Amino acid sequence: MKRLVLAGAGAIGARHLKHIEEHPELTLAAVIDPNPDVAKLTAAPAHPSLQNIDIEADGIVIATPTQDHEATFNEAAARGWSALIEKPIASDLLAADRMIAKAAACDVHILTGHHRRFHPKVQAMRAALPRLGQPVLATIIWSVKKPAGYFDVPWRSGADGAPVRMNVSHELDLLQFIFGEVTAVTGLGGNPVRKAARVESGGLVLSFASGLIATVAFADTTPSPFGFEHGTGENPNIAHTGENSMLITGTAGALAFPSLTLWRGGKDWGDAPIAETVPSDDGVPLVRQLEHFAGVIAGDEKPLNDGNAGRRTLELTLEVERLTLP
Ligand SMILES: NC(=O)c1ccc[n+]([C@@H]2O[C@H](COP(=O)([O-])OP(=O)(O)OC[C@H]3O[C@@H](n4cnc5c(N)ncnc54)[C@H](O)[C@@H]3O)[C@@H](O)[C@H]2O)c1
Repeated sequence: MKRLVLAGAGAIGARHLKHIEEHPELTLAAVIDPNPDVAKLTAAPAHPSLQNIDIEADGIVIATPTQDHEATFNEAAARGWSALIEKPIASDLLAADRMIAKAAACDVHILTGHHRRFHPKVQAMRAALPRLGQPVLATIIWSVKKPAGYFDVPWRSGADGAPVRMNVSHELDLLQFIFGEVTAVTGLGGNPVRKAARVESGGLVLSFASGLIATVAFADTTPSPFGFEHGTGENPNIAHTGENSMLITGTAGALAFPSLTLWRGGKDWGDAPIAETVPSDDGVPLVRQLEHFAGVIAGDEKPLNDGNAGRRTLELTLEVERLTLP
C-alpha cells in the first residue's frame, strides 16, 4: 500500500484523485490545493499548502499549474517524496534542470506525466516494432476542433492556448518513446481560421538517430475523427471515433494505430501484404502510470518517464513552438 499526496485537484488532478481513491493498493494521504472547494471532493485531509503541514506519505502527484511545479516539488523532495509531475515538467529548461538536480541531491525520483507511455495499445505498438523490419517512416495526424469556450480562460487566449505545448507535446513524447532520440526538427505553422495571436495548425518533420523520419500534422480548428484521443477514446471529454491517427512503415511491414493492424508479407509494390491485428492488454493509462509510480517508489521498477525524458520533450516542444509561430 503506497500513500500518495495530490497537489492540485483541478482538471487533471481530479482524475488522479479518483484513480488513487479507487485503487486497492493506493491511499490518498492528503490533498493540497488553495481552492477550498477541493475538500468536498474527498474524505482525505485537505490543506491549502504543504508548508508547515505534517503528512506521512511515500510520494506526491503534482498537478498544479505548470509554473508551480518546481516550488511544490522542492518542498516534496526535501521530505524525501518521489514525485509524479504532470507534463510539462516545468515552464522552462532551467527550472527542469534545477528539479532534476534537486531529485538527485534528495535521492528521490521524478516521473513526468506523459501518460500515453502507459497506454496498453502504445506499449503493444512499441513491442510490435521489430516485426516491421527497419522502421523508416511514421506519420501522425492530430486534427481536432476545440470548442470556442476553451479559449475563454484568460491564459489560453494567447500563445499558451496554442496546441503545441498542450497537445503536440504528447505527440513528441510518444514519438521519442517509440523511436528514441530525435536528432532534428523543422516545421511550419499558421492561424488561418481564428486568426488569433497563436498557432492553430501546422506540420513538423522530425529525424531520429535511427534514420527514421516522422511527420506530425496538427490543427485545433478541424472537427475530424483523426487524433490520438479520438482514436483511442482515452479522454472522457473527447469523442471516441476509433479511427487511426498514426501509421508506421518499415522494410518488412507496416502498422496502424490504434487499430494495431499489422501488414506484412509484401515483397515489393507488386505484392499485397497480409493484415493481422496485434493483441493488446486493457487498462487506463493514468491508472497504469500510478501503478508504475508505486513500483518506482518501492524500488521494483525503473522510471519509464523520468525527469530527463520530460526535459527532452519540453526542449523539443519549445523548439516546435518557435518554429511554428505564425
Ligand atoms: N497529462 C495530461 O494530459 C494533462 C492534461 C491537462 C493538464 N495537464 C497538466 O497538469 C497541470 C494542471 O493542469 P490543469 O488543467 O489540471 O489545471 P487546473 O487549472 O484545472 O487545476 C490546477 C489546480 O491546482 C490548484 N493550485 C494552484 N496553485 C497551487 C499550489 N501552489 N499548490 C497546490 N495546488 C495549486 C488550483 O487551485 C487548481 O485546483 C499542468 O501542468 C498541465 O499542463 C496535463
